Amino acid sequence: MKEKITIAVDGWSSCGKSTLAKALAKKLEYIYVDSGAMYRGVALFALRKGWVSASHTDNSMIIDNLNSIQLDFESTKPGKADLFLNGENVEKEIRKIEVSNVVSAVATIKEVRKHLVDLQRKLGDSGGVVMDGRDIGSVVFPDAELKLFVTADVDIRAQRRFEELKSKGEDVSIEAVKSNLKQRDEMDSTRKESPLIQTDDAVVLDNSHLSPGQQLEVALELVKERLKS
Ligand code: DC
Repeated sequence: MKEKITIAVDGWSSCGKSTLAKALAKKLEYIYVDSGAMYRGVALFALRKGWVSASHTDNSMIIDNLNSIQLDFESTKPGKADLFLNGENVEKEIRKIEVSNVVSAVATIKEVRKHLVDLQRKLGDSGGVVMDGRDIGSVVFPDAELKLFVTADVDIRAQRRFEELKSKGEDVSIEAVKSNLKQRDEMDSTRKESPLIQTDDAVVLDNSHLSPGQQLEVALELVKERLKS
């Protein structure tokens, strides 16, 4: 029986990947890595510098300055790891709609992806990791023992994200949330560099009508099988 496996959790924007990946990591006592937070960290840095906006992205400024962007995860509460950008806790800021609106454009840049994929592999190279994102099973950890492809109906995803943003005090409409989700899904799945794909060996988990607890149960059964094989 294997001791610890690598678990890749990929899927559409706001489909509950992070909720599942975090819960799995907690239950299994694995490391959890939110790879989307890393893309959001780079996007926030570029946004603050004026290198990215809704209409324009200055790829070369972003690429030339990748080495000035230090990204770290630090635990601020048990079971919670916040993203730090050059020493500043930016966990709240990276979730804002202003960052969501530009992050997919930043994530299309090949050099950004290479830089972050190298960091992601270092974070997970000793195994016992649950990482969520878009290219974890296809690019970051193609040999992961368990690959989950999470999906849910777009209206359900928009409603969940809307409620999450509202509970954080963000002033946003459900239409704006849904339109952002659809736009990101389109960009993430059609970009040239490592687009979101469902690999042949991934298990599809549609959680449209599952509670977080139920989806965790399904995933834990799959983990058990993989640990035995
Ligand atoms: O998971 P998220 O919504 O926080 O991700 C933010 C964006 O980052 C998403 O629109 C696409 C991009 N991303 C990516 O391209 N590859 C990853 N492994 C993770 C995220």
